[in-house]
Amino acid sequence: MAARRILLLNGPNLNLLGSREPAVYGTTTLADHVTTVEAACTGLGWVVSHLQSNSEAELVGAIHAARGNTDAIIINPGAFTHYSWAIHDALAAFDGPIVEVHLSQPLKRETWRHTSVVAPVAIGTIAGFGGVGYGLAVEALSRHFADSK
Ligand code: DQA
Repeated sequence: MAARRILLLNGPNLNLLGSREPAVYGTTTLADHVTTVEAACTGLGWVVSHLQSNSEAELVGAIHAARGNTDAIIINPGAFTHYSWAIHDALAAFDGPIVEVHLSQPLKRETWRHTSVVAPVAIGTIAGFGGVGYGLAVEALSRHFADSK
């Protein structure tokens, strides 16, 4: 079987990981989280591409560009999680599985973080495990693909 192609997307402010609110998000940098996903994907023979953007338009464009050439999307939409219907709609038009990842557990935080407009179009959400969640997302996809053979 051809190598699975995975798109990893990280939304606004996640470029600041490592120094941004370390008590909430930890001290691991985004580059290190990307390395975690790349290592997990390489171990499975999969190929990963990554985009971090603070721009909703750029994220929507990347999701559009993934249509027809990408097997799955792992996305931490940052604050867009809670209100970006544009990202919701773009993900709804993608035909592969989507895994939503959060470093923190939004349900334990401010009430405005309790809604995810991305969750309804994801196969599942991994939240509250810090950077471990990115590796768990790859594991979840691996099992999803194995189950859907
Ligand atoms: C986050 C949670 C969001 O509520 C927040 O806006 C972020 C990061 C997380 O990874 O825990 O930027 O997605």
